Amino acid sequence: MKIINVKTNDSYNVYIERGILSETGKYVRKVSRAVRAAIISDSNVAPIYAERVEKSLRENGFETSLFVFEAGEERKRLSTVEQMYAHFFDNDMTRSDIVVALGGGVVGDMAGYAAASYLRGIDFVQIPTSLLAQVDSSVGGKTGVDLSVGKNLVGAFKQPKTVLIDPDTLDTLPQKFFNDGMGEVIKYGCIRSRTLFERLEKENAMDFIDDIIYECISIKSLVVEHDALDTGERAILNFGHTFGHALEKLYNYSGITHGEAVGLGAYLITKITEKKGITEAGSADRIYKLLKKYDMTTSTEFPIDDIVKATRGDKKSSGKGISFIFLRSIGDCFIYRIENSEVKGFFA
Ligand SMILES: NC(=O)c1ccc[n+]([C@@H]2O[C@H](COP(=O)([O-])OP(=O)(O)OC[C@H]3O[C@@H](n4cnc5c(N)ncnc54)[C@H](O)[C@@H]3O)[C@@H](O)[C@H]2O)c1
Ligand SMILES: [Zn+2]
Repeated sequence: MKIINVKTNDSYNVYIERGILSETGKYVRKVSRAVRAAIISDSNVAPIYAERVEKSLRENGFETSLFVFEAGEERKRLSTVEQMYAHFFDNDMTRSDIVVALGGGVVGDMAGYAAASYLRGIDFVQIPTSLLAQVDSSVGGKTGVDLSVGKNLVGAFKQPKTVLIDPDTLDTLPQKFFNDGMGEVIKYGCIRSRTLFERLEKENAMDFIDDIIYECISIKSLVVEHDALDTGERAILNFGHTFGHALEKLYNYSGITHGEAVGLGAYLITKITEKKGITEAGSADRIYKLLKKYDMTTSTEFPIDDIVKATRGDKKSSGKGISFIFLRSIGDCFIYRIENSEVKGFFA
């Protein structure tokens, strides 16, 4: 078993262990004296995994209930959260009870937000089942929903009481979502771990996926510990994302997945900074080869001018400028702020 302690205000453990799903109750009991546990899951994950989780919770003295919504980002809305509130109410959830998020990032973000806001906050735990959720979204305390005008615009910071990661669940994850998660994995290698990046080059991700999860979560937890509320260093997690979000916008959020957009964004920005002499020569080519190796998009029909234009209004913009993340070399990054008036010139 691998354990990472995340030292935010209220510190918590992330456990990585094959089969841990069947021991959910034991680990939730360590952090909660709740009577009731409400499991939140989606229509793909619940049929495969909810029973095991429910059984283990019951064996450890929890009264359980299960709320399932139809899978997909389209459901990451306040209307679904409202249904969760009704479920909590109908099942007599009190402030000392606990929410169990079982699923990918959509489940985690939404169950976390419901827990953060119901009765002004009740505890929750994360059991991430997608690669993206296991390497990224389940740790760090960002929760929320989409609005029709934009993604993740409403939310709250809410750290989980614990995170249980069972890499065995990836066996049932469709390949396209696995590749999607690889976009974030490559990002972690780029910003903080040359070793991870080199292993991704030499080996096959699935052959050392437990190590990958451990490495990514270790990096994320260190960054988050220093900057829980996302006012500084946490921005480095956004490497590849400024162009990535712009690409998602240009493709109208269909036709390119988030992870693919991030991977492509990482490659494009690095190609530019390499040309400018900011990044060690050869880095962009190495990112390109990794994207190819893991079946991700490596090109776009949109010219760089359009991508730069579409970065306007990015969430990482503040005041009159925007913070980009650049690489010095693979494994080493820094924050580079560009004023709005200079963005166009910088990328000309
Ligand atoms: N909170 C954060 O810090 C953070 C960070 C990154 C992304 N996110 C959010 O995460 C979301 C994306 O996460 P995601 O890619 O996990 O999406 P998702 O939750 O929609 O999961 C992807 C698909 O895989 C299915 N699935 C998940 N686990 C499975 C399994 N083990 N077996 C079979 N099917 C499985 C889901 O039902 C879904 O169809 C986005 O909404 C994004 O905004 C949040
Ligand atoms: Zn991302």
